[in-house]
This record gives sequence, structure tokens and C-alpha cells, in this order.
Amino acid sequence: MEFKNILENNVPQGHSAEEILAMAMKMQRSMSLYESGIKEICTKLEILQREAQVQGIHNPIESIKSRVKNIFSVIEKLNRKGFEVSMESVEKNLYDVAGVRVICPYIDDIYVVAERIRRQDDLRVLIEKDYIKYPKANGYRSFHMVVEVPVFLSDSKRYVRVEIQLRTIAMDFWASLEHQIRYKMESQIPDEISYRLRQCAETIAATDAEMQDLYKEVRALSHNEE
Ligand code: GTP
Ligand code: MG
Repeated sequence: MEFKNILENNVPQGHSAEEILAMAMKMQRSMSLYESGIKEICTKLEILQREAQVQGIHNPIESIKSRVKNIFSVIEKLNRKGFEVSMESVEKNLYDVAGVRVICPYIDDIYVVAERIRRQDDLRVLIEKDYIKYPKANGYRSFHMVVEVPVFLSDSKRYVRVEIQLRTIAMDFWASLEHQIRYKMESQIPDEISYRLRQCAETIAATDAEMQDLYKEVRALSHNEE
């Protein structure tokens, strides 16, 4: 969200625009830690991809995307949730400042990658949410993890929180478009549109399951041929 919009829509109580800008600039300097956290996680995922490539086996990771939440969105979220606006508060209260999205070919790959992340003993897994087994009411599906990854600075070791979202290509297709549609609708999405979005999510989930079965069958056939 743009700074201008945040100020117009959501000025933190008791702060002037100048104060927010000053706060944002001060906090921005600490945000590089989240950039480093993302690098650490992405390296781990790239190593897993590379390993599969080298061994010539199925690669459970199709692609990786990442982003650091912009400082004004961070301030807006703190404000919206009623938390103090400071870097200490970001570290204590927010879980999604650093975000990594892992796109997998098949549903099973998601659980494979999640387990490989879990097994890395330098990581601390704080939260896991399985929106594949338990989809959201609107049809949203993904597997979410929040981890803390150590980042080594010149004089200290800092644990940085990173939210990892694991999805299939199909789930990502739905979530990306649903997000765009929701963003376009300034007011509440009409029931009829919500219903149709949910139907799309169900169709996509059925296709994901079918592609998974298909892949398993093809793999069994090719093993028999060997
Ligand atoms: P936040 O306060 O928004 O972070 O929600 P939360 O702490 O309850 O976490 P949750 O696991 O529900 O969602 C975190 C992230 O998942 C969001 O920031 C989105 O990136 C994604 N997400 C969750 N629900 C939806 C959804 O319905 N549609 C889409 N497109 N993305 C979603
Ligand atoms: Mg979030």
C-alpha cells in the first residue's frame, strides 16, 4: 500500500505524517535483517532443488518467490492490529514481514518439502497451518509455516522470522487471481462472486488430486518398464 493511502486511510493514532515518515525511515534500517532471513531460506530451498537435479530425480520445487513487506504496510498492519509502532514490536508481533512462497508441482511435494524444512536443525518451526487438509471457507488452500532462521552478523546471531507458504501451481493460480479480484473490489465481495470463486477452488483442488494420481500411475508404469 502506498504511504499516501496509509496516511489517508489509516493514520496511526496520535502521530503526524512527519512522525510516521521519521519512524518508517528509522525502522527501514532494521528491515535488512528480513532480507537476510529470506536469503538463508531461499538458499536452503535452492540446495534441495539442486540436489534433485544432480540426482536426476523428481524435483519437488517448481519455483520460489519471496518478498519483504514494505515498511508502510508493516506500520499499517501494526496499527490495524493495535500494536505499538516500533521495530521491537515488529519482531514480537508480526510473522509475515519476510515471506517465501514455494510452488510445487504436486500436492505430495508440499509435504515432502515441509518435512525437509522441519528436519533442518538450525531452524525453529514456530507455526504450521495446513489449509490443504483444512481449506479456508473461501476455498483458499496452501500449507503455511513460520520459521526462525539464524542470521549471523559481525557480533551476534539473530533469529529472523520467515513465513513460508507452500502451494501447488494450481493453488497458486487460484490464490493469485483471488487476491487480485479481492483487491479490485473495494467493498465486500458479493455472495455470488464468492460462491463462484469457491467453485473455482474446488475444481482446481479436484484437478490437483487427479494430476497427482496420474503422476503416480505414470511413475509406477515407468518403474515396471525398467
Ligand atoms: P494475516 O494477519 O493476514 O497474516 O493472517 P494470519 O496471521 O491469520 O495468517 P494466514 O495463515 O491466514 O494468512 C497469511 C497469508 O496467507 C496472507 O498474508 C496471504 O498471503 C495468504 N492468504 C491467507 N488467506 C488467503 C486467501 O483467502 N486468499 C489469498 N489469495 N491468500 C490468502
Ligand atoms: Mg499475512
